[in-house]
Amino acid sequence: MLDTAHNRPTLPAEIARRRTFAIISHPDAGKTTLTEKFLLFGGAIQMAGQVRAKGEARRTRSDFMKMEQDRGISVSASAMSFDYDGYRFNLVDTPGHSDFSEDTYRTLTAVDAAVMVIDGAKGVESQTRKLFEVCRLRDLPILTFCNKMDRESRDTFEIIDEIQENLAIDVTPASWPIGMGRDFLGCYDLLCNRLELMDRADRNRVAGSIRIEGLDDPRLAEHIPGPLREKLIEEVEMARELLPALDPKAVLEGHMTPIWFGSAINSFGVKELMNGIGTYGPEPQIQAAEPRQIAPEEPKVTGFVFKVQANMDPKHRDRVAFVRMASGHFRRGMKLNHVRTKKPMAVSNPVLFLASDRELAEEAWAGDIIGIPNHGQLRIGDTLTEGEALRVTGIPSFAPELLQSCRAGDPMKAKHLDKALMQFAEEGAAKVFKPMIGSGFIVGVVGALQFEVLASRIEIEYGLPVRFGPTQFTSARWVHGEKAAVEGFVSKNKGHIATDNDGDIVYMTRLQWDIDRIARDHPDLTLSTTKEMQ
Ligand code: G4P
Repeated sequence: MLDTAHNRPTLPAEIARRRTFAIISHPDAGKTTLTEKFLLFGGAIQMAGQVRAKGEARRTRSDFMKMEQDRGISVSASAMSFDYDGYRFNLVDTPGHSDFSEDTYRTLTAVDAAVMVIDGAKGVESQTRKLFEVCRLRDLPILTFCNKMDRESRDTFEIIDEIQENLAIDVTPASWPIGMGRDFLGCYDLLCNRLELMDRADRNRVAGSIRIEGLDDPRLAEHIPGPLREKLIEEVEMARELLPALDPKAVLEGHMTPIWFGSAINSFGVKELMNGIGTYGPEPQIQAAEPRQIAPEEPKVTGFVFKVQANMDPKHRDRVAFVRMASGHFRRGMKLNHVRTKKPMAVSNPVLFLASDRELAEEAWAGDIIGIPNHGQLRIGDTLTEGEALRVTGIPSFAPELLQSCRAGDPMKAKHLDKALMQFAEEGAAKVFKPMIGSGFIVGVVGALQFEVLASRIEIEYGLPVRFGPTQFTSARWVHGEKAAVEGFVSKNKGHIATDNDGDIVYMTRLQWDIDRIARDHPDLTLSTTKEMQ
């Protein structure tokens, strides 16, 4: 029996041992390093460095990936599964750069928890704050790892205060750092009353932990020199007095985050964090859907697509739909109902993403992430079931914040551009709008860098040079309302109207004033900045 803070005691053991989570952080805080150590301790890789090495092999396949490398950002997300101490961890990677936040938001709909990594010297940075707010929208449980304690960092209380004040969440220390920078010795594990000392000689090894009976145990003096020991005792006493104690229920509800201190590069604090994810992290959760929600323990299989990645292997024009299993026990070869098209779909070659490779997924349980190669049938937001017409809800699509016109460099190839843009729209990499009046397309993105990535990918994957240029519009809003009201509105505003790749009506303008005026003059219509993927 696993020592787990159960919130759903009826779950079958195979489901109860799953922990599906993402890491949220600001670039450079140490997400890649921490991921690598997770995989190392999860037995999924043999030595540190393989994640990056694999990344590079993949990148050399195309210049698009080279661009990613040059800029030092990770553009594409993927999923990784590994076992640790009886748990099955499914780690969904999120792109860290803010220009790709939409993809990140959607990824966060597929996880049950998030690990927030902060740099001990920098504290809560902008991208962390943004991602945290998304987690908050869903009350996602958050476990915090304060990294780089082997460097000069901020005072521990200051770090905790900053998280509490900036993110309005209770913080409870799961460990307490002893010294910092050059003097960093390790941590006192407040949950297990143990001393964890850092091994500076071997970055991939964890020195044995030392069990002590509280802070007045004389053995403490054997390992920690006087001044550091006094400081530790004083700080821990203060922390116990001033900071809230760990409340597993509050953690699961997303109101409290336990914080571990460590140094990912030195493998320090990582195992304690992994134990924490196992013990205090949530099991697969109930999934919002229509007309009813889906419980993970339901025997029938359901899953939903939260990400589509095209051209993962340029030699085969395949697309992989990343599916989060929401319930049941999936077995390879099952025939599932593709709810949007009402067509059956035989899932004969699903893949599981292990760190070093993809391999065929013979089975999967609620909580797992599988990849389903397909030729474009599966789109973001799609639901797969064993028959019932369920539709998973809550997967957002955001109104783009930047709009540009897009034309083929070679006018003879305009048709191909059509196809390429539609593919990227379906992948969720951009919004593509076809204006009612005029030719060409208007492409909308959340961050400017996405235009460069798109241009580069269209050229590489479709052999098609494209030009992005300015448009007269700066905002796009989806128009919702009764059919007749929408039609009436469209006929009077043709110059501002376009359709997106699903055929939904979009209003474009450069003036916020226009949007406000429509809200005033057309109470029967709603202009919205998001729409649910369907
Ligand atoms: P990211 O994915 O969040 O962007 O961060 P990443 O893991 O790539 O780490 C960013 C930098 O911080 C890397 O250094 C990495 O080695 C370093 N780092 C990660 N964890 C620790 C830690 O615990 N202590 C210290 N001192 N440094 C840490 P880099 O110089 O940018 O890259 P590299 O040359 O080391 O690969």
